[in-house]
Amino acid sequence: MKKIIHLSDLHVGFGDLTSRLGDIVTRMIFHKTPAKGYIVVITGDIVEDATCKGSYEEASAHLNRLNDAGFKVLVVPGNHDYGTGSFGNSDYVKKFKKHFFEKTTIQYPKLDIIDRIAFMGLDSMAEELHWYDRIFSEGELGGKQLKRLATLLKGDQVKNSKYRVVYLHHHPFHPTLFHHLKDSDALEKTLEWHHIDALLFGHNHDGRVWNGGWGIKRVYDGGTSTGKLGDRHPHRVMDLSKDPSFDYDAQF
Ligand SMILES: [Fe+2]
Repeated sequence: MKKIIHLSDLHVGFGDLTSRLGDIVTRMIFHKTPAKGYIVVITGDIVEDATCKGSYEEASAHLNRLNDAGFKVLVVPGNHDYGTGSFGNSDYVKKFKKHFFEKTTIQYPKLDIIDRIAFMGLDSMAEELHWYDRIFSEGELGGKQLKRLATLLKGDQVKNSKYRVVYLHHHPFHPTLFHHLKDSDALEKTLEWHHIDALLFGHNHDGRVWNGGWGIKRVYDGGTSTGKLGDRHPHRVMDLSKDPSFDYDAQF
């Protein structure tokens, strides 16, 4: 059974965080062997400022080291990946897909079934890039994406999987002004009645544990894995076949 490593809010390009990510990746490669036994889930804000030329490439240089070592890496975008962090631009939706998934036809939820685990990656910036709400950094999935998620959850591929993991950038529980997921109630309704094994997210850099929220066993805020501005940086490793009490912070 493959294990999951949850990373978030890397903010490559900010201060010395690029080299910190490099160190984290080196330690992961050294300590987590065989790498093919791990799936790395990154819940957005991969870069600090997508408008800075070469920032996606800088991040990928390190993420590709994980891929080359044998880790499977799954990513979703955060507000910083679609612009400066406080001001988004819809051009980056396509750019992000092209760069990180190598195709622009990918639709969210992005479904990956690996080792009988269904991973469903959401774009919580999907409805935040209109002229009237692209400032600030609240998240919104939008009705269309939620409908696709509902369809996916009812479909055979997900139903026949042994475990289900939902991951996104924005925090669904924390009603901080400008920092919460606007349609979190609708997400809760979409997920209820389906057995979700883990809900993973980032954005607030809190790094807290919300296990039991919405009746889901594992609910983790990934903090900021590179420790932006000294905020919490848990590097949680989980084995979905075991009780969450066995999850741990690998402190890469
Ligand atoms: Fe962030």
